[in-house]
Amino acid sequence: MTTLDPAEINNSSILVTGGAGFIGSAFVRYLINNTNCRVINVDKLTYAGNLESLAEVWSNPGHIFRQIDICDRASLDRVLNEHQPSAIVHLAAESHVDRSIHGPAEFIHTNILGTYNLLEAARNYWENLTFEQQERFRFLHVSTDEVYGSLGMEGAFREDSPYRPNSPYAASKASSDHLVRAWHHTYGMPVLVTNCSNNFGPYQFPEKFIPLMVLNAIQGKTLPVYGQGENIRDWLYVQDHARALLAVLVRGESGRVYNIGGGCEKRNIDVVREICNILEELVPIEGNNNLSNNYSSLIKFVSDRPGHDLRYAIDNTRITGELCWHPQESFRSGLEKTIRWYLENPEWVSRVRSGEYRQWLETNYASRDMNL
Ligand code: NAD
Ligand code: DAU
Repeated sequence: MTTLDPAEINNSSILVTGGAGFIGSAFVRYLINNTNCRVINVDKLTYAGNLESLAEVWSNPGHIFRQIDICDRASLDRVLNEHQPSAIVHLAAESHVDRSIHGPAEFIHTNILGTYNLLEAARNYWENLTFEQQERFRFLHVSTDEVYGSLGMEGAFREDSPYRPNSPYAASKASSDHLVRAWHHTYGMPVLVTNCSNNFGPYQFPEKFIPLMVLNAIQGKTLPVYGQGENIRDWLYVQDHARALLAVLVRGESGRVYNIGGGCEKRNIDVVREICNILEELVPIEGNNNLSNNYSSLIKFVSDRPGHDLRYAIDNTRITGELCWHPQESFRSGLEKTIRWYLENPEWVSRVRSGEYRQWLETNYASRDMNL
């Protein structure tokens, strides 16, 4: 079998946490557009949660949104009992490394305590299912390659690589991975864990590297590259990650870990240069009032991130071999799509950058029952 048949999860209900975030919303859009399953989207709507990312699926009766903090056990119990999902896909997290360096508390709270809380709610729910329902149930925990620490110039992370998290964010995700593993080994809960490399694509919050560089460049602002830009990340287009999560959910073996990566290693400086080259084609200098020189003249090497991991690279042999998943988007085509999306959505960008999107959400979505 070479491709996944999304029909395999048709007619089931899936509870997604963090479904208003960058990857979560891509996963929700993918599920709604490619399957007939019902999605119960649970999100606290932190600064990173944006219902505008769900506009395309908002009026679909298969999508139900609930504003819930995963640290709120009573609300989780209620939503599980009300919607009786056959799977939970857990993406809710604090996700930005730099924020974790400046203020780790929220990361400990949501990523560790929140995951613990969700696991306990899930266990209680799962233990009260029938035997057949228990067998089919899955808890898919979405994690990161950062748990494995930093690589030298050789090798790649495998599912059995040792855990060596270096940032507060990575440590909080590593901790949540261990909790999920323990809930499987101790209580027998059917879990899956994915560890994915860096994602990029539309709707990514512009604190992250690629959208930050694109938007700063268009506005003629500095492109701040940490250190000498020699750090390497393994990039994956977000829709390919969404496809991988569905493949793991449907075909993954309970208790197993799957690494997800695009096999696309790039030095940060090369990513910025590629962004500048694409922008020079799409928005030539003479069409950009913010610019007097070429885009790459905006690159500035700035102080390095403390504890900055040098290189991430994923060995994706397991997911490609066992689950027949392969990335479909090349880095260049994904980057072009991403840049075009940011160019074509200046209102989304300015609402997010000014913080105005939070108010916009309440005005535009208040009529729908979402416990706002
Ligand atoms: P994001 O920051 O864009 O979105 C996170 C979402 O979680 C937001 O909608 C936010 O409102 C929600 N959230 C935060 N705290 C919550 C809480 N206490 N209760 C309920 N909802 C809460 O993150 P992302 O980049 O989409 O990442 C999603 C997941 O994927 C995370 O678990 C992250 O660790 C993992 N991951 C991300 C990447 C990447 O490159 N972005 C790569 C690998 C794994
Ligand atoms: O590897 C998966 C991880 O990728 C996810 O688990 C995280 O949630 C996600 O945020 C991402 O973490 P990174 O730290 O790799 O991503 P970020 O976009 O913050 O940075 C990418 C690289 O670019 C990193 O080497 C730091 C560098 N960088 C980042 C910013 C924001 C810069 O050089 N300048 C910048 O301004």
